[in-house]
Amino acid sequence: MSFYKSKWWKESIGYQIYIKSFKDSNDDGIGDLNGIIEKLDYLKDLGIDFLWICPFYQSPMVDNGYDVSDFFKVDSSFGTIKDFKNLVKEAKKRKMKIIVDLILNQTSDEHIWFIESRKDKENPYRNFYIWEKGREKDEGLTEPTNWASFFGGSVWEYDSKTDEYYMKIFSKHMPDLNWCNPFVRKKMHEVAKFWLDLGVSGFRVDAAAHLGRKKKLVDSKLNNNDKYKKDWRMFSNLKETFIYLDEFNKEVFSKGDILTVGEVGGSATVKEAIKYSGIKKGSLNMVFNFDHCFCNNVYDVKSKDDKIKTNLIGLKRVFNMWHTKTYKKAWQPLYWLNHDHPRLLSQYGNEDEPFLSGSMLAVALYFKGGTPFIYQGEELGMVNYPFKKIEDFNDVSLINHYNHEKEKASFNKEDFIYQEGIRSRDNARTIMSWDNSKYAGFSNVKPWFHLDKNYEKRNVKNALKDKDSLYYFYQKIFKLRKDKRYSKTLIYGKYQQLLKDDEDIYCYLRKEDKEILVVANFFNKNKEIEIKGYKVKDILISNYKKENKNLKSLKLRPYEAIVYLVERDK
Ligand code: NOJ
Repeated sequence: MSFYKSKWWKESIGYQIYIKSFKDSNDDGIGDLNGIIEKLDYLKDLGIDFLWICPFYQSPMVDNGYDVSDFFKVDSSFGTIKDFKNLVKEAKKRKMKIIVDLILNQTSDEHIWFIESRKDKENPYRNFYIWEKGREKDEGLTEPTNWASFFGGSVWEYDSKTDEYYMKIFSKHMPDLNWCNPFVRKKMHEVAKFWLDLGVSGFRVDAAAHLGRKKKLVDSKLNNNDKYKKDWRMFSNLKETFIYLDEFNKEVFSKGDILTVGEVGGSATVKEAIKYSGIKKGSLNMVFNFDHCFCNNVYDVKSKDDKIKTNLIGLKRVFNMWHTKTYKKAWQPLYWLNHDHPRLLSQYGNEDEPFLSGSMLAVALYFKGGTPFIYQGEELGMVNYPFKKIEDFNDVSLINHYNHEKEKASFNKEDFIYQEGIRSRDNARTIMSWDNSKYAGFSNVKPWFHLDKNYEKRNVKNALKDKDSLYYFYQKIFKLRKDKRYSKTLIYGKYQQLLKDDEDIYCYLRKEDKEILVVANFFNKNKEIEIKGYKVKDILISNYKKENKNLKSLKLRPYEAIVYLVERDK
């Protein structure tokens, strides 16, 4: 396929819905499929073309749906298959598409396959999961390998019934499927086909990088004091994973005009990303990497006195690497955050300047090449939740970490709550702010989780009344991306970074049939810059009223962001 070949998913705007927190239609405090239907017009008006809906399959909800106990059923808290079909139909009426999460790495421990698998070693489902004997000799640990799990502790869980361990790279309630087994692969192809038959237009492939396991399981050689080594390479981006995804593509993905986006963040290099999603040979259309999610000090913050600061040079380096090295080789998704990260304004923006910092961040990202994915509430400037006690959290991963950490002599509970509070995935999972009523217009009963601390002011109802709101700014950006005069450049154009060493300003050019210049001041201060070799033909969007056109001496105000149509200044 040629890079320029027009595909709906290259020219569309996506929106991620964490269904549990989006809109409750039946007053049980939990968001649901019918709630999404109620809000389709809102999303359409924002400029959204497709929705990625987080898992809504039958689940005990240990990890809010990523622990699936039946891939062919909708969890009763979210609705029914009939509701899902209706959602697809209502979306279609509005020329919108639905993509869903495809959870391939694991099931819930309540899935019938696992219930069977753990019964005895001869069970036909035994080989659906990864079972191993413990160590023969006492080597300080009993598990088959010394690998850590993403959610804390060992990657292995002991099961006394058969005196063996099963692998689980996430929670012990989420055993890993054994992808070496062709029957597992065939079953998962059937799952994907089932949802395609119901009308989905694609998949976000969960934990796509982790499907393969080495034939021989050996200890990690990482040399540190951790009992279980956080050596993600042991189960990430292995050659087997590429083989399984290629097969999936051949059997399922390639048969339809669908969007596939794999989650490979945290571990995949650019080279590996191109292997997953290369235009010529990739099995997926694009992959999410996380590199840009960690360009600040949130993981180093120890106490309230440590200020969160963006490392703009680092962020620019990451953006530049991905956008230049993948250009014409692999398509990119554009996203700031998802349901596994803290809120955008609390990380890279300024909670007290939601419009200016929020619009600046939107300009910085959504004028690049790739497919935008907006995360629910981003368009309103929703922020982190002020977590105060351990009971305020919901995330299984955080609670697991807490249970491991609290055993250590050096553990300080207050610091733990503060540190986790600012980086917790739970921040992204708070309730969507629809209006200023008691439960933010989400439900008529108390929601399952916290409301945004600013919901009474910053909500959809107010945003729609204010023509200068962040919501309308986002709408304007998406209109520009689709404007025939600029879309070729904005969607397919080459990316060129300017002012590489400037610590405050992010500046890049997009070049195709036109040249478009993007300037974003990341900080709450004035800054003057000079951009050589170009002059302004037009201003396409700007987040200040009084516009700024002199590129030779561009005086940027706090969080100022401007997009120019430019031409060479000979
Ligand atoms: C990645 C998902 O985004 C995350 O929410 C989940 O906990 C893990 N995969 C396990 O499925």
